[in-house]
Amino acid sequence: MTPSFAADTLAGKAALVTGAAQGIGLAIARALVEAGASVLLADVDVAVEQAAASIGTRSAARIVDVRDEDALAAAADDVIARFGSLDIMVNNAALTIAKPVWDIPAAEWDDVMAVNLRGVFFGCRVAGRHMRAQSFGRIINLTSLAGQRGGAVAGAHYSASKAGIIALTKCFAQELAGDGVTVNAIAPAAIDGPMAQAMPREKVSAMAATIPVKRLGDDREVAAAAIYLASDAAGFVTGTTLDINGGLFMR
Ligand SMILES: NC(=O)c1ccc[n+]([C@@H]2O[C@H](COP(=O)([O-])OP(=O)(O)OC[C@H]3O[C@@H](n4cnc5c(N)ncnc54)[C@H](O)[C@@H]3O)[C@@H](O)[C@H]2O)c1
Repeated sequence: MTPSFAADTLAGKAALVTGAAQGIGLAIARALVEAGASVLLADVDVAVEQAAASIGTRSAARIVDVRDEDALAAAADDVIARFGSLDIMVNNAALTIAKPVWDIPAAEWDDVMAVNLRGVFFGCRVAGRHMRAQSFGRIINLTSLAGQRGGAVAGAHYSASKAGIIALTKCFAQELAGDGVTVNAIAPAAIDGPMAQAMPREKVSAMAATIPVKRLGDDREVAAAAIYLASDAAGFVTGTTLDINGGLFMR
């Protein structure tokens, strides 16, 4: 069953979502609006304009490169100028590159780290400053099963960056716990999206058969976790990583 979101869950709240031009970032941005929040969708891809337009009310778009702390700070200021505050930060932007360890050039290692890990560090720091000052905030970082288990499929640079996000989440959670700001991570795996849709159906079925719940996940199911973590109900949850993986990894 596709999750739906009660319109008063996040009424009056304002959010910034990075990497929101497509996929999980767009699904989270859409769910945040459905739950009552106003959202600035940020991405390096100009498709983010169309993405925000597809959501309609209470959404706007901005070109932002998460490798650049000043660009993230300007985006946070933009959220406050448009919507009055910055209450929810979703650090979702990432480069996903699958490659054998032997074939990863140094420049590609640095690119993946700069977007996936440094970008989340800057995103937490920029949002954390505002949220600490207003004594409220919800920071949500997208990690991955690859960051928990290592990745035969994902590249070592991707896996290492995602493992780093789990540690960063705990660092910022500890730093901000006394200020009304929670910091949590979501670790999805096997979510149906452009990659799965481009695969032959038999290959997708074979992949689904290896997942304990026997299907791929829906990006709305990842968004549902973000809505929970952003809600007032999750005020006692911080520093954790919520697994959305159909049982692929249990701990
Ligand atoms: N899809 C999955 O099954 C899955 C599984 C595990 C984890 N994740 C994580 O969830 C998040 C979203 O995944 P997705 O599959 O929707 O990704 P995606 O590749 O479809 O989208 C990522 C977005 O980030 C943007 N982006 C890339 N570099 C950027 C930069 N420097 N600044 C700003 N934006 C930038 C891209 O333009 C793109 O719109 C990622 O953090 C990913 O690691 C996804």
